[in-house]
Amino acid sequence: MSWFKIFSRKSKAGHSAASAAPRVSATAAQAPVEVAPDVADPLAGNALPKIAIITGASRPGSVNSSVAEWVLAQVAGRTDADVELVDIADFNLPLLDEAYPAAYQNYQNPATKAWSAKVSEFDGYIFVVHEYNHTAGPVLTNALSYLNAEFNNKAAGFVSYGSMGGARAVEHLRETLSELQLAHVRNQVMFSLFTDFENFSEFKPTEQNAGTLAPMVDQLVLWAKGFATVR
Ligand SMILES: Cc1cc2nc3c(=O)[nH]c(=O)nc-3n(C[C@H](O)[C@H](O)[C@H](O)COP(=O)(O)O)c2cc1C
Repeated sequence: MSWFKIFSRKSKAGHSAASAAPRVSATAAQAPVEVAPDVADPLAGNALPKIAIITGASRPGSVNSSVAEWVLAQVAGRTDADVELVDIADFNLPLLDEAYPAAYQNYQNPATKAWSAKVSEFDGYIFVVHEYNHTAGPVLTNALSYLNAEFNNKAAGFVSYGSMGGARAVEHLRETLSELQLAHVRNQVMFSLFTDFENFSEFKPTEQNAGTLAPMVDQLVLWAKGFATVR
């Protein structure tokens, strides 16, 4: 039995969560879903897929913003996507403080509602990821925990950094994004603290690693457009 079903059962037996949750009958939940995509206009009137560059840090002195701004500068000239920088710090999300799992979309707090509305605007995401203790940092994973449907059937790519290019952090994040039904592209941008940063703090990417951004974004834009047809 999944955690979601266990939560539902406990809620129905105990307190008021059941009344707030959407009612889905067992029959309806198992019925095949009919998808009728508007193939002629998969992006609902938007000429270009919207891509968010999402930061993921709060530490004073973090290099995350400088990497995110560099990504924005590199992709700003693209004619196949609208790209916007979204700084998680602007949303002042506390440690997860919503009563219900995100799958219910029964948000109580203004910060969650604002974060949900912003994430919903996009067809794809570039996550700027640092590595803490061989995994993704808590600011990003906390922010991801707030939402679910907002990410479903969309596409994502990673720009990571760390002593090993943030590779381990991104491998863990891929598992999380799979659960969020957010398709993550294979191509990945990895910056080394030793060679792409001066004194481990000033971002100065090598030409070789900088050159891996465009192929990742190419794949991301393709998938962002493709997934728009099935939403
Ligand atoms: C709590 C903490 C744990 C860290 N663990 C790792 C690690 O496991 N692997 C790694 O490559 N770097 C690790 N680092 C170094 C960070 O990758 C490096 O400090 C980087 O600049 C952090 O990103 P930030 O500037 O966005 O905070 C760690 C740093 C912190 C603060």
